[in-house]
Formats: sequence, C-alpha cells, structure tokens
Amino acid sequence: MICFFLLVNKHAAIITAISKNNATDEATIGPTLSWILVPGSNVVSAPSAGAVVVVGGEAGVSIGGEAVAVAVAVAVTRSVDVFGDFAGGCSPCAATCTAMVKAKKFIFAKRFEGMPKVSDFKLVEEDLRELKDGEILTKGLWHSVDPYMRAYSVRMKEGDKMIGSQVAKIIESKHSKFPVNSLVVTNAGWCDYAIANGDEIGINSILPYPEKAIGNLSPSLALGAIGMPGNTAYFGLLDICEPKSGKTLVVSGAAGAVGSLVGQIGKIKGLRVIGFCGSDDKVAWLKNDLNFDYAYNYKKSSTKQSLKESAPNGVDYYFDNVGGPFSDTVINFMNDYGRISVCGAISYYNDDAPPLAPSVQGQLIFKQLRMEGFLVWRWMDRWSEGIREMAKWIQEGKIKYRETVTEGFENIPKAFIEMLEGKNVGKAIVKA
Ligand SMILES: NC(=O)c1ccc[n+]([C@@H]2O[C@H](COP(=O)([O-])OP(=O)(O)OC[C@H]3O[C@@H](n4cnc5c(N)ncnc54)[C@H](OP(=O)(O)O)[C@@H]3O)[C@@H](O)[C@H]2O)c1
Repeated sequence: MICFFLLVNKHAAIITAISKNNATDEATIGPTLSWILVPGSNVVSAPSAGAVVVVGGEAGVSIGGEAVAVAVAVAVTRSVDVFGDFAGGCSPCAATCTAMVKAKKFIFAKRFEGMPKVSDFKLVEEDLRELKDGEILTKGLWHSVDPYMRAYSVRMKEGDKMIGSQVAKIIESKHSKFPVNSLVVTNAGWCDYAIANGDEIGINSILPYPEKAIGNLSPSLALGAIGMPGNTAYFGLLDICEPKSGKTLVVSGAAGAVGSLVGQIGKIKGLRVIGFCGSDDKVAWLKNDLNFDYAYNYKKSSTKQSLKESAPNGVDYYFDNVGGPFSDTVINFMNDYGRISVCGAISYYNDDAPPLAPSVQGQLIFKQLRMEGFLVWRWMDRWSEGIREMAKWIQEGKIKYRETVTEGFENIPKAFIEMLEGKNVGKAIVKA
C-alpha cells in the first residue's frame, strides 16, 4: 500500500467537486479518484484496490477525527492510496492516524441461559489509541468460533469483549518482527481492529502465523487443522493415549474440528476407528471420505448396540469431546489398561450444572484405566511440532479437513450458535 497525505486544497478540481457536494463526479475529479470522504458525510463509493482516496473538505477547511480514521482504516486494508488535508500536521503515513481508528467488537451483553442467543451479544465501537513501541495494529480476516467460548463464558462479566482467536493482517507495526501486511494469529476476541504487543507470544496474545506450514492453503487453517484444534487432536491423542497399531479408538464429536482430525490420526497410526456424531451426513463423511471404520449418528442409534457391533473386543482408547452419559457408556466398554483422553464436555456446556452420571471410579479401578483431562496449551513448547506434522499429513493427503464458513464479521454470533447446534462439519470459521 502506498499511503501519503497532501493538502487537498491544492487540488482545485477536487475541492470544487467536494464543495459542490458532487463528490462522485468523476469527470470533474479525474478517473483515478474513486472514493471521497467528506467530513460529516458517509463514504460515497467504496474504493477498489489501486484507487486513490481523498479525505477532504471544503477549500481551506482542515479535517481529521473520525472521517480520517474511517478512511484510513478502510483504505489500508484495501491497498489504496490515501490523500488527505491534515492542517493539524499529520505526518505522511497511515500510522499517525491509528489513534483515530474505530474498532468494532462484540461484547457479552447478557449472561447465557441455555443455548446462547444472538441477542445475548452486542456490537459496540471503541476508539483505538495510538500504538506504542513494540505493538501492532491488526485487522481480523478470519475468526474462529469454538465451544470453549461457551464453557468459558461462566467466568466472564456482562460487558466483556467476547474471547476468541483470529487470523489477522498487520496494518501498522511498531515491532520489527511483525511487518505490515504480514499475518498473525491473535487472541484479540470478536473484534475487527485490535492492538497487540509483539513481545507477548502465547495463548492470550499472539502466535506467529504458520506461513511455511500453510503455504498456499487458506490462512483460516491456522485456526483449524494447522492450528489450535489440530494440535488438540495431535497431542491429545498421541501423548495421552499413546496408541498402538491394531487397537480400537472411539471418538465422540467425531465430525467436528478436533474429532475429525483425531479419527484420521488414529487411522494413520493403524487403529480401528469408531466415530460418533450428530447427523447422517456427518456419518457419511466420516465413513466415505475420512476412512473411519465405523461411524454412528448418536441421535438415532443406541451407543451400546453400536459399540457391540463395532468394538466386539472392547475399546482401548477413548477421545472424549462430549462427556455426560454418552461417555459413561463408552467407558463401560473399555479394555483393561485403556486410556481416556478427556478433551471436552460439550454435551453439557449449555446446562447450568454437569449431569448426574454414574460414578466412573469402579471402571477406573478394576480395569486399571487411565483417564486424563488436558488443555492443549500444555504443549506450547512443542507447538510447532504439531503444526508441522499436521501440515505434512495434509500435504501428503493423509488428513482431509473441512471448514464451515460463515461470511461477514457481523455474523460471528450466528456462526457461534450454529456451531453449538451442530451445524458445522469440520471447523466453524467466520470470514470477515
Ligand atoms: N482441551 C482442550 O484444550 C480443547 C481444545 C479444543 C477443543 N476442545 C473441546 O473439544 C470439543 C470439540 O471442539 P471443536 O472445536 O472440535 O468443536 P466442533 O466439534 O467442531 O463443534 C462442536 C460440535 O459439538 C457437537 N455437539 C453439540 N452439542 C452436543 C451434544 N449435546 N452432544 C454431543 N455433541 C454435541 C456438534 O456436533 P454433532 O452434530 O456431532 O452433535 C458440534 O458440531 C469441545 O468439547 C471443546 O470444548 C478442547
């Protein structure tokens, strides 16, 4: 992007057009000028890449504030040139104007009761301050919606920004390791623009975008198979279950972001893989495309009958994404020394309290089972190993992935709710 400012009152034709309130008169203004923002007015037409943007007012009248902020914010993300009248002495770069960038964010407006509703969220604006040294300004391109947001909401206060990760483009940088126009995975929450500290690498701030691993694939994979859910599947299965070829693995939530990868890693490791998921279409995907040995729609089938059919010699490993009574049934089918990797409990995230379920201690003791919960951040020091391996398997065609993409930043709440309702196949993603 080329971005520089000059006094528009030196451009007589432009000033004439603006002052006549005839901003779209391209004949007067010139063919390169495709977008004009007049203070106090709306954008008259959207700029396209390579266009010239004028942020201007009447001759001699200086402009600034919101008009500039909006113009620059939009312009920099569309690679357009920006001209402006900054009588106040704005320096010739977009950076100085970020103090005026208005960001949009979804807040947790009302505590969820059961399944979240769109009206539980509110879209609000906030002014972003100027960057300090070491910081970056990002614009979200792809947003992740994940079950943990529902589970974590019990710890949030009404008014908090909704939590979440995004793949974002850096549009301004005061950090040498994060150049403008490069991508980053940032835990900025449900917002469009955000400021992050480039020195704080980690789950609560930013992670480098795995550019080499993703290559020409969609950057959104950094939120899915080549990102947190991919590493959850990779470490949660391999490190906790330590699977041996020929044994039997059951996966619940099997057609989701994590579960669909767990089953495929299981197949790579030579396991007999049995998946449970919530629709016939998902069952068909697991069996026909992902090579699962068995797949069942848990809404229609008896778990006991399904396991009698698919695991006549018992279950050695259970990767649990759902918890609750379903998982109690699976645990009853475990073989001696079996391992249970407890990843999630989505079957009751929308409930006020966990379900009353049979006690598992008897099974754990007499079958000498190992049941272990985990958070994927445990493997932060091996993060790139998981990313690299998942990317390699995808490139080799050994792992397939799917994304359910919702268009539009404003539709994040809808995408989130639909994911909780099971409408996603593979990773649920929002394209801003
Ligand atoms: N421990 C960690 O570090 C970690 C990291 C990432 C994710 N997780 C957990 O892993 C699980 C899967 O996460 P994900 O990102 O891959 O989500 P996902 O599976 O892509 O999406 C959620 C899925 O949950 C299923 N679901 C909804 N209500 C259910 C219910 N009552 N019973 C059974 N299934 C239900 C739906 O699929 P169906 O159509 O099959 O019902 C839905 O598509 C979640 O429990 C999540 O919290 C844990």
